[in-house]
Amino acid sequence: MSSTANIIKVGDSLLKMKASLVTDFGSKTLKELIQYLFHNMEHYNGVGIAAPQIGESKRIFVYGFEKNPRYPGEPPVPKTALINPEIIYFSEDTKESYEGCLSVPRIRGLVPRAHSIRYRAYTVDGEVLEKTASGFEARIIQHELDHLDGIVYPMRMTDISTLKYTET
Ligand code: NI
Repeated sequence: MSSTANIIKVGDSLLKMKASLVTDFGSKTLKELIQYLFHNMEHYNGVGIAAPQIGESKRIFVYGFEKNPRYPGEPPVPKTALINPEIIYFSEDTKESYEGCLSVPRIRGLVPRAHSIRYRAYTVDGEVLEKTASGFEARIIQHELDHLDGIVYPMRMTDISTLKYTET
């Protein structure tokens, strides 16, 4: 593997596919892929990154940061890797906020998302995780899970006129 991946950009067929379920829990390959996702997320200053964005059509994403230059106003989110994730509850309460995406560079758009969610996923060793998340963390999980189903955030926007250019 090279030191960093080229991020796959919107329009590429890889980002339109439904990613495959992971079955090789505990394997060296899976552990290395997760480390590589964290490495790329940090290199590109992402708050999250999904495996299809680096060319691996698998149901895995990682997220989390202490402080992020692209979202300077957001509080820290614990670093987490989720495998074969599903959202099992969405709050009716939704919030609109600006989102960006490493696959849609230099653009932000206003996206409505459930304020809180409950999710189920697996750890790298195949243990089941079930947790609730809210606010920015819930937004990241909804955004990254969409990548595993071939959805990029502009497809979730209700007002395309809110798209805007950003330096970061
Ligand atoms: Ni994204």
